[in-house]
Amino acid sequence: MKITIIGTGYVGLVTGACLAELGNDVLCLDLDANKVAILNNGGIPIHEPGLDVIVASNRANGRLKFTTDIEQSVAHGDIQFIAVGTPPDEDGSADLQYVLAAAKNIGKYMHGFKVVIDKSTVPVGTAEKVSKTIASELQQRKLDTASFSVISNPEFLKEGAAVEDFMRPDRIVIGSDNDALGLKAKAVMKQLYAPFNRNRERTYWMDVRSAEFTKYAANAMLATRISFMNELANLADRVGVDIEAVRHGIGSDPRIGHSFLYAGCGYGGSCFPKDVQALERTAREYDQDLLILRAVESVNDHQKQVLGKKVVARFGADLTGLHFALWGLAFKPNTDDMRAASSRVLLQELVSRGATIAVHDPVAMDEARRVLALDFAATPDQLAQIHYVKHPMDALDNADALLIVTEWKAYRSPEFSQLKAKLKNPIIFDGRNLFDPIDMADAGIEYHGIGRSVLTQVE
Ligand code: UDX
Repeated sequence: MKITIIGTGYVGLVTGACLAELGNDVLCLDLDANKVAILNNGGIPIHEPGLDVIVASNRANGRLKFTTDIEQSVAHGDIQFIAVGTPPDEDGSADLQYVLAAAKNIGKYMHGFKVVIDKSTVPVGTAEKVSKTIASELQQRKLDTASFSVISNPEFLKEGAAVEDFMRPDRIVIGSDNDALGLKAKAVMKQLYAPFNRNRERTYWMDVRSAEFTKYAANAMLATRISFMNELANLADRVGVDIEAVRHGIGSDPRIGHSFLYAGCGYGGSCFPKDVQALERTAREYDQDLLILRAVESVNDHQKQVLGKKVVARFGADLTGLHFALWGLAFKPNTDDMRAASSRVLLQELVSRGATIAVHDPVAMDEARRVLALDFAATPDQLAQIHYVKHPMDALDNADALLIVTEWKAYRSPEFSQLKAKLKNPIIFDGRNLFDPIDMADAGIEYHGIGRSVLTQVE
């Protein structure tokens, strides 16, 4: 099938590459000439496991191409995926300017029947806006407005596992209209996703608005589980309970399940913070206050400060002259994404209190340099208190404690005797509960996890 993908961010690039891998003829459009040049020269602008291989092989066989030419991209695909960004507006609502600009271009240049797919995460009612935008362009061109249908097909890709999630989806959500054009579009979608439904039907068909809402509901539910566990972990620290034991104890109930119950130093990334806010904002537009989601957000804001608070409780408010090692900058492992990463909040806290920090991340250091330069734009002296090291062990030299923010595999089994020898004080503040507090006590390491202090007190 001939497919156009508008936007080559995480979602667009993964979708385009995977659909090409399935045998489709895919053209990806991006207005960022620099990005398109990187892709056309065999590079990949993001770190995503497995993506480089399928981009390279499908570029080589001619099924995956990249362009900045809008007219050419509209002409190419019978299916037009809109996969551009929907960053939060100042008030937290999703900014639809890029989505609607893409729709406008489709209406401006299209000929013949097009299925337009909203892949970006967009609030309820966006498909109708996209539809109106395209129709108004067609009217201006005096063309038939009954020549397209807009589908909602939200993505559920996890960064770091996006290719795998696309190729082995647990579900495909498709919202379509029930009129003649909608049914025609539905038939196209059936054909497009047929490879995923061979052994088992994975598609959930619904109306467009419900599909748009499903994406927000999923992310809001996951964010709620995390904030709930984080709040319990903070209480566990006070009342002498091990949150990891509790996690196993409740997760074994199939109604609860084991996933997404890990307490830690807060969730980040491009989706949860933005989608929770956008859903709250939608509710407000309809005169409803989503009390639970407001709490989820504020618990997470608090949780991003938890490691900093533990450091202050241990070393005092003035950290001048103290030096720390920090492992992990990305918002989660297997990505270089620094958006809403907890590490940024922690670095602000420590550095503004006078500490110096040696930081390491297996892949996010370049991205960290870029975003931290912006975070500390007004305080370059503080930015200079952060040093980057190439190997995690190098961060430990002379450090008063080790702080862990991202659970990269490379950090999971360090040589503890070596670690202890390098640190000035054998202290670990672990924002992802990577280690067993009892093992740490045996190794003579002072250990501060999240919701695990009962075990740290065991001598
Ligand atoms: C998420 C959704 O999982 C995905 O379906 C959606 O399409 C996009 O948003 P992503 O943002 O890539 O994906 O990351 P995810 O793996 O969901 O993790 C989000 C954050 O939650 C990370 O900061 C992670 O560290 C944190 N997290 C996750 C926890 O703190 N505890 C957990 O138990 C799980």
